[in-house]
Amino acid sequence: MKITKICCIGAGYVGGPTMAVIAQKCPHIQVTVVDLNAERIAAWNDEDLNNIPIYEPGLDAIVGEARGRNLFFSTEVEKAIDEAQIIFISVNTPTKTYGKGKGMAADLKYIELCARQIAKIAKDDKIVVEKSTLPVRTAEAIKSILDNTGNGVQFQILSNPEFLAEGTAVQDLLNPDRILIGGDTTAEGQEAIQTLVDVYANWVPVDKILTTNVWSSELSKLTANAFLAQRISSINAMSELCEKTGADVNEVARAIGMDSRIGPKFLKASVGFGGSCFQKDILNLVYIAKSYGLNEVADYWEQVIIMNDHQKRRFSSNIVQTLYNTVSDKKITFLGWAFKKDTNDTRESAAIYVADDLINENAKIAVYDPKVSRKKILADLDYLESRKAENNANAILSFEDPYEACKEAHAIAVLTEWDEFAQYDWQRIYDSMQKPAFVFDGRNVLEGAVLEKIGFIYQGIGS
Ligand code: NAD
Ligand code: UGA
Repeated sequence: MKITKICCIGAGYVGGPTMAVIAQKCPHIQVTVVDLNAERIAAWNDEDLNNIPIYEPGLDAIVGEARGRNLFFSTEVEKAIDEAQIIFISVNTPTKTYGKGKGMAADLKYIELCARQIAKIAKDDKIVVEKSTLPVRTAEAIKSILDNTGNGVQFQILSNPEFLAEGTAVQDLLNPDRILIGGDTTAEGQEAIQTLVDVYANWVPVDKILTTNVWSSELSKLTANAFLAQRISSINAMSELCEKTGADVNEVARAIGMDSRIGPKFLKASVGFGGSCFQKDILNLVYIAKSYGLNEVADYWEQVIIMNDHQKRRFSSNIVQTLYNTVSDKKITFLGWAFKKDTNDTRESAAIYVADDLINENAKIAVYDPKVSRKKILADLDYLESRKAENNANAILSFEDPYEACKEAHAIAVLTEWDEFAQYDWQRIYDSMQKPAFVFDGRNVLEGAVLEKIGFIYQGIGS
């Protein structure tokens, strides 16, 4: 099949950047990204590239190059489906908040809606690509919907999970460790796989394009996220032991990371991992394992989440305990709210849970984050439904200037590893704070010894 038109349903953190890179690298293919959210589409079409809805280093330039040439953002979902030969489904797959599997299983209602819409519109053969992260065997459900409600056209379903990390999405897309494509073992399935391989081969070396059966591909995505998150929970577990024993978790991480079998990446102890996917995907994995009666498998992976929740809670309790067991009416400054640096995404950020705990103790939280708005911070807290929205609004002070945020504070907590935090004039910050002045570095990004010399009481994670 000669590909001239691609459509992607879902213009979010995955759909937007992924399609922008495909469009940049394949100028001969017209790429249309559609979404029901008209506000989001309008933002993608904003003339001022500073206003595109997702902040990712380098993304504005790529969108600027391709948009209007062969990259389009639109709310006309049906038209885009009708015209495309390949349709990527890149909608959200959050944890279910109701019914069977509540709090564990992936909510597939948006996926099913996409499948039904494709079935209704398609008048010629299509390749449907699962880009969203899905439970293993979802392709079976999609196929059943497409084959039974369609117009007799042939559908091939491929699994092509996305491995990009936020904050480095553009680099990850331009230079991926691998592209994974799973498809049917039939001749038609293999042909569909090859069609998608040819799209990626426009910029990815073919030896990095891995093809498998559909189920392996679906399950590899959940497995990759589970392994990555497990490394963080493992080093975080060690961080608590380091604090009790005089070992330093940074030194331990370095020592074990030099073993080539372990490797140095993803061993940074922290206040806990956040982001929209690690927790959601592991809960989903646990649910799937349980649904097959594999209780030991389920318990094994659930421990990664239990450890992560513990790490967040431990951080907030330590702040309260260190500040003489009360933070009531004390100003505590959060440097960072995003779940990691170089993104404006706050989904499941540790900052939300730490703030929630401290507000329960009547603290006033002053937040400075270079990319996150007050509106977003309050929406994140309101979503927890711990208290009335007006009480959250009263408890949160937000600042556009970090020095103002830190003025008169009893303590500073670093929640995100933004590079700029290490560059601040810490003497100036110290002079403006209440004494003793505490710093709780949830990311180990500040020079503890330098801060202590200034007069701060400094506590990192795991030392
Ligand atoms: P997102 O919430 O940012 O974007 C999803 C978009 O889909 C939203 O804009 C929503 O309006 C739209 N949408 C939902 N139903 C629709 C429908 N029926 N028709 C048209 N549009 C619809 O989500 P995301 O972060 O881009 O994640 C998407 C998927 O990719 C998830 O399964 C996630 O697990 C996976 N994933 C995410 C990342 C990441 O870094 N965020 C990385 C790899 C994989
Ligand atoms: C993660 C994976 O890295 C991607 O491969 C995957 O595609 C994506 O999830 C997804 O499926 O959504 P992301 O969540 O964007 O990407 O960012 P990560 O760099 O993985 O960081 C996740 C969280 O772990 C952040 O809160 C980060 O600060 C924390 N982290 C990361 C640590 O605490 N320590 C580390 O060593 C690494």
